[in-house]
Amino acid sequence: MSSQVNRTSKNKGWKIVCINCGKEAKTELPDSKCKYCGDLLEVSISGKVGRKALFDGRGPGIWRFVAGLPFQSGTAPVSLGEGGTPLVRLENIRKGLRLDNLYAKNDGQNPTGSFKDRGMTVAVTRAKALGAKALICASTGNTAASLAAYGAKAGVKTVVVVPKSGVASGKLGQAFSYGARVFGVGGSFDDALRLVLDLVKSDDGFYLMNSLNPFRIEGQKVAAFEIYEQLGAVPDFVVLPVGNAGNISAIWKGFKELRANGITSSYPKMIGVQAEGAAPLAAAFASGRGLVPLKDPHTVASAIKIGNPVSWKKALRAIEESGGRALTVSDDEIMRAKGELSSQEGLLVEAASAAPFAALRKLKLSGNSKVICVATGNGLKDLADHRADMAIETVDNARSIIASLGHG
Ligand code: F0G
Repeated sequence: MSSQVNRTSKNKGWKIVCINCGKEAKTELPDSKCKYCGDLLEVSISGKVGRKALFDGRGPGIWRFVAGLPFQSGTAPVSLGEGGTPLVRLENIRKGLRLDNLYAKNDGQNPTGSFKDRGMTVAVTRAKALGAKALICASTGNTAASLAAYGAKAGVKTVVVVPKSGVASGKLGQAFSYGARVFGVGGSFDDALRLVLDLVKSDDGFYLMNSLNPFRIEGQKVAAFEIYEQLGAVPDFVVLPVGNAGNISAIWKGFKELRANGITSSYPKMIGVQAEGAAPLAAAFASGRGLVPLKDPHTVASAIKIGNPVSWKKALRAIEESGGRALTVSDDEIMRAKGELSSQEGLLVEAASAAPFAALRKLKLSGNSKVICVATGNGLKDLADHRADMAIETVDNARSIIASLGHG
């Protein structure tokens, strides 16, 4: 069939291997799983990539680090200028938290407003090289928006499957604007992903763009390279929200590669934060007995309302190897942290992205630790929870009230 994706390729300098049995995948399966044992795959970059090769690269954002990426030479990257986001010192909220070195990696400044663009540029570039004609993902919103944009840029059809209620309207608006076909299913993200995985297994024309796809993880790992460069050091802690559990695995992979290449000599502790009503990974970490999927996840942080995170094994490995932990925060704590970030730091994030900041109060880190919270998504996509605060003051004597505000 001419619409099939050519999943077999000869790669130079890297291979795809299973995280469990270690066998190489010479052919990518449609669901991005190992054909021998069914576990998750990851890219393994062979040989050493030295400091100069990695950090002296040219090009914007992610593609500056091409020496550390699985890249098919001769392929033009499908790029919208992703990566290279600011590391912002949080001067104001750090005082109340008694942290001297608190930073936000503001990934909401990526082209479609979330960290997903980091992985999408690499995975869509890969998809194009394989001749994929249709790209598909399940999503709580941000992956959908990102896939739709990169698909548009690549000139490849995109299909996104989302929970039919609860997805932020800004994210849906993006997916529609970029030209994706958008389908809603009953239930949660987990139901949407089940449908997508079923589909890709039975129709070989689709290329899977969820973070099961190891090329997504490769783009996302670059955040670690950037954090190290911007901070001028390896941080002590990287704190981030966990949903489907791809990003924590990706950033850990980036720090591991920096050390394996002799560029750094230490690791950060990886801290995964989940919302109380959607915390299967935190429960697995606490019990030490593997993941028990949660049937009916609920939280105000719709981006991480996930009960059965596919990359949980990679995420637990990241947390355990690094000596980190997983913990939960309540919806109230999330919304409070979100408000503090916007009103005290000028940083408008979506609810999911406020979770790591909310966790800081519980973590009780020592005051001189270098702490990075990843601000994963832009708050402009999801302003619904601000509706109550947005009542414009319409009073007859507006002029005199405004004038009085100017005097302190
Ligand atoms: N923060 C935001 C803003 C997200 O959109 C997501 C995931 C996460 C954190 C969690 O990252 O899944 O790698 O652990 N959003 C996915 C989506 C599920 O479909 O947009 P993760």
